[in-house]
Amino acid sequence: MNDFILENEAEMLAFGARLGASLRPGDTVALVGGLGAGKTTLARGLVQAVLPSEIVPSPTYTLVQAYDLEGFTLWHCDLYRLEHPDEAYELGLMDAMGEDVCLIEWPDRLGPLLPQDAMTIEIKFEGEGRVVTLTGWGDRNV
Ligand SMILES: Nc1ncnc2c1ncn2[C@@H]1O[C@H](COP(=O)(O)OP(=O)(O)O)[C@@H](O)[C@H]1O
Ligand SMILES: [Mg+2]
Repeated sequence: MNDFILENEAEMLAFGARLGASLRPGDTVALVGGLGAGKTTLARGLVQAVLPSEIVPSPTYTLVQAYDLEGFTLWHCDLYRLEHPDEAYELGLMDAMGEDVCLIEWPDRLGPLLPQDAMTIEIKFEGEGRVVTLTGWGDRNV
């Protein structure tokens, strides 16, 4: 089963933390969900599991933020404000994808530049909480 029910923010942070152990250099993860779904919270949990004192702000204006984690560099991206897919080259994201781990909010902004083999995490609202669905993760344990 690839669905996870996460009742509150603490469960989302814990889910992000656990996810880190399943990731490897070269992974691109499309983080799909509307405004306020919890995408940044998930990324924060992933980073803070390794770097507890990092604030992990939303990269709303910088669009990308890199963190050196255990075993890989994580690029946390929020591409909401990307105006054209080609801007991903200037951000260094095209070099990072396939090399580092890239966790991308609003991946649709990349259009055809999103790698074909990107794994997806979709977050949906469910009552007060969220349901998270993983696709394209093959036999990886999360
Ligand atoms: N599983 C959850 N259940 C309830 N609220 C959550 C959950 N995960 C995150 N939140 C809350 O959702 C709000 C928006 O989260 P955020 O990560 O900024 O969303 P996004 O990056 O998708 O816009 C925050 O107030 C956060 O505490
Ligand atoms: Mg966000």
